[in-house]
Amino acid sequence: MRRTGKAAICRELNKPVLVETISIDGPTRGEVTIRIAACGVCHSDLSATNGTIPLPPPLVLGHEGAGEVIEVGEGVAGGPGGLAVGDHVVTSFIYMCGKCRFCSGGRPVLCVEQGKALTTPPEGTPRVSDAAGKPLNIFSGCGVMAEYATLSTDNVVKIDAKIPLDRAALVGCAVTTGVGAVFNTARVEPGATVAVFGCGGVGLNAIQGAAIAGAERILAIDTMEAKLLIKPGQDATKEIKKLTGGGPDYAFECVGAGALAEAAYKAIRRGGKAVIVGVARPTDSAGIKTMGMVFEEKTIQGSYFGSCVPRVDFPRMLQLYMAGKLKLDELITRRYKIDEAAQAFADLESGKNARGVIVF
Ligand SMILES: NC(=O)c1ccc[n+]([C@@H]2O[C@H](COP(=O)([O-])OP(=O)(O)OC[C@H]3O[C@@H](n4cnc5c(N)ncnc54)[C@H](O)[C@@H]3O)[C@@H](O)[C@H]2O)c1
Ligand SMILES: [Zn+2]
Ligand SMILES: [Zn+2]
Repeated sequence: MRRTGKAAICRELNKPVLVETISIDGPTRGEVTIRIAACGVCHSDLSATNGTIPLPPPLVLGHEGAGEVIEVGEGVAGGPGGLAVGDHVVTSFIYMCGKCRFCSGGRPVLCVEQGKALTTPPEGTPRVSDAAGKPLNIFSGCGVMAEYATLSTDNVVKIDAKIPLDRAALVGCAVTTGVGAVFNTARVEPGATVAVFGCGGVGLNAIQGAAIAGAERILAIDTMEAKLLIKPGQDATKEIKKLTGGGPDYAFECVGAGALAEAAYKAIRRGGKAVIVGVARPTDSAGIKTMGMVFEEKTIQGSYFGSCVPRVDFPRMLQLYMAGKLKLDELITRRYKIDEAAQAFADLESGKNARGVIVF
């Protein structure tokens, strides 16, 4: 059935997000409708509102959500991975064709069709419309900064119903991206030295992932005065090298700037690895001296959604949380009502929060 509910929408780039009442169609084959309980506010949502990530408005924001299944389409119930009304789920924002060599090889973030349906559910037809009946785009198969969302079962993962949904939501992006970059992309080993550029929702999770992986030393780099280890005016790369006796084994760029990708690459020691997690503007770039790359055997690597397999990694992150090893309670600085969405985005932009979460 069709439902109506409030949602955070970008109608015009570089303008505050709006809260509107939208219509959400019921599920067709292979889809479920979810009553969203919570949705984290990620920098990538902000990047969609200012054109850094080019997704055309009008766009229903949100890709870090969790909620309860309230209606299932044909072919959804039963079997492994089946979903039923009442199940608790976390959303996933990647497209998985399930058939290409990358999906078949357990690397769905590299699916050759990634990006095929960036503003609709995978099959390509919008499921949401505004009060005037005009179709709306959704953020990367999700659009879950909304009271309800109808998603493909490929974009949801069932979780243990004991886990509070506001904390579970963070696994839909920040946690899996940050911890996954450490566990899956870089495979940080015990005793390694790690530097993390940018200590927001993603960077803080790279930090805690590095701690769980047994890193011996973790340097956290940020421009927020309160968080500073290296003072303004100092050369961060030089100071990092000094502090770590030649550079960290791994550096994670969790901000989204070519200059910082370059700084992360420069900072790592011989044989080290710089992992680029932040999403910069499409026109941004980094300059790497290739000769040094050869003689110092340095690596620079991207990491998309923590190189995760959602059905494997989401439960894994939540088990670490349940075991008291992964901190999720502490990550939520502030909870907002959907009507406060513009404030939540302003607070993200000013760096006030570890993570802000919209709760419904
Ligand atoms: N690779 C992926 O799959 C993926 C997934 C989610 C988010 N992202 C990207 O990761 C980045 C971070 O996202 P987030 O939600 O953690 O953002 P955030 O706004 O919560 O955190 C960014 C942090 O970087 C700090 N910062 C800004 N400029 C800096 C600088 N010059 N040097 C050091 N620190 C600086 C800010 O103070 C803030 O603490 C964004 O680019 C986002 O789009 C990537
Ligand atoms: Zn995100
Ligand atoms: Zn594929």
